Amino acid sequence: MIQVLFVCLGNICRSPMAEALFRHQVKQAGLAHVIAIDSAGTGDWHIGHPPHQGTRDILDKNQIDYKGMQARQVTSDDFVQFTYIVAMDESNVRNLAGFAPAPVAGEKRASIHKLLDFAPGRTNKDVPDPYYTGNFQEVYEMVEESCARLLAFIIEKEQLS
Ligand code: 4NP
Repeated sequence: MIQVLFVCLGNICRSPMAEALFRHQVKQAGLAHVIAIDSAGTGDWHIGHPPHQGTRDILDKNQIDYKGMQARQVTSDDFVQFTYIVAMDESNVRNLAGFAPAPVAGEKRASIHKLLDFAPGRTNKDVPDPYYTGNFQEVYEMVEESCARLLAFIIEKEQLS
């Protein structure tokens, strides 16, 4: 199984949106049995909470399922369990480093990416945080496009087609 973990700060706005959208895209591509998806936050404020109302509204509007999703915090084990860790912005990447376990010789670790690195042509490489901007529509469009590109990247890299 290929495992993909989306990471943001609170795990209630951006990374749950990416988790739900990417799961939808993976299902549509007929790859749900090969790619497992989760999300987590580097912060601990919202552990156990459902996605933010703004994220729920936009997912509902686009008929994307997010049933049962609950925020959790990143763990050091995530670096070993997951194949890809996909962060929403540069500060997430910096914060993630603080959760990385001590190196173990020969142990395979997740490769760490930023979501917008998969969207060529965008000058902004950080997904803006709608918790502060309130613009969930803008973030939805960015996440949808970048997740589709991420899926194409994984299909090629893991030779899934
Ligand atoms: P997210 O947005 O990282 O996209 O989930 C945030 C959610 C909550 C907080 C910050 C950002 N917070 O400070 O509670």
